[in-house]
Amino acid sequence: MHIQEVFDLIKDDVRQMEEGFRKNLNSDVYLVSKVGEYILNSGGKRFRPMVLFLCSRLCKYKGDRHVALAGVVEFIHTATLLHDDVVDNAHLRRGAVSANTVWGDGASILVGDYLLSKAFSLAVLHGDMRILKVLSHTTTRMAEGEVLQLLKHSDAATTEKEYLDVVTNKTAVLISAACQVAAITGGVSLEKEAALASYGMGLGIAYQLMDDCLDYVSTDEDLGKSIGNDLREGKVTMPLIYASTKATEAERALIKETLESDGEFTDTRLREIIAIINQHGGIEYSVNRARAYVEGAKRHLDVFEPDTERAALLAVADFVIERSC
Ligand code: IPE
Ligand code: IPE
Ligand code: MG
Ligand code: MG
Repeated sequence: MHIQEVFDLIKDDVRQMEEGFRKNLNSDVYLVSKVGEYILNSGGKRFRPMVLFLCSRLCKYKGDRHVALAGVVEFIHTATLLHDDVVDNAHLRRGAVSANTVWGDGASILVGDYLLSKAFSLAVLHGDMRILKVLSHTTTRMAEGEVLQLLKHSDAATTEKEYLDVVTNKTAVLISAACQVAAITGGVSLEKEAALASYGMGLGIAYQLMDDCLDYVSTDEDLGKSIGNDLREGKVTMPLIYASTKATEAERALIKETLESDGEFTDTRLREIIAIINQHGGIEYSVNRARAYVEGAKRHLDVFEPDTERAALLAVADFVIERSC
């Protein structure tokens, strides 16, 4: 199935979810609505709602709670982006100037807190205890992932395992939760629920691996974020980790010096590091790892009937590798 057909399948659900955003950002405090609407209206792939909607259909759910719950997941995601851009000192998000750049760090952090709290009040309203358990466990792990990443900041000795630990927590658990929440509302067996959670986990790890490749190989325009920001922020990701293991002493020293420079390096240096990554196959290796996670994720769908919805989820998995933004 082509990814465009997948988008068509869920476009009504996405529209309904987006209609709900405005209502849920309606705060008496002007800046909350302003910043919230700014980031939510600036686009975003709505990847997590997409997988939630497709899983919901796969589980043959017939009610309407999935729309509000997809909104909950997207609010959690958006809150973490507001916080993440402060931590990462990022100036571009979703093709626009980031909220922290427009309104400052304080506003971004606090509106992020608002979105996170709002997400949980909506989850209380539309979910149940099991869903709340999954979501609260998820946000706890996401915070741990971001803190773990902070601890590994500028550490050229970061291992693959440490990196994958960060990625699993900061990104994959939410995508997994989106799938699991759909399974719970869909009332499927525990076996199928676990299968969807595992599908989401593999998908999520691959999603972040690809994001980290795109950070080196894409363009600001295509990605809607600043290229090379990971290196500038001292964030050690898979392409760099792998290339470091293959690099010469001199190259390794250059990588270390660059990571420890607090982002104070020229574009020429960025190009030098990208050249080292490419020369040692850092991108190719990372894409291959992502592909393996995607293939593993797909196999978890074997417990479901081979219908349109399953085909759509398989297409989404391939899209994770093919996406360029
Ligand atoms: C950005 O997520 C953060 C990562 C986990 C890579 P997305 O790439 O899904 O961001 P939007 O929502 O489309 O802007
Ligand atoms: C993803 O990490 C952020 C979260 C999942 C909280 P990144 O820092 O790599 O995301 P981008 O590249 O800024 O979107
Ligand atoms: Mg970031
Ligand atoms: Mg990134």
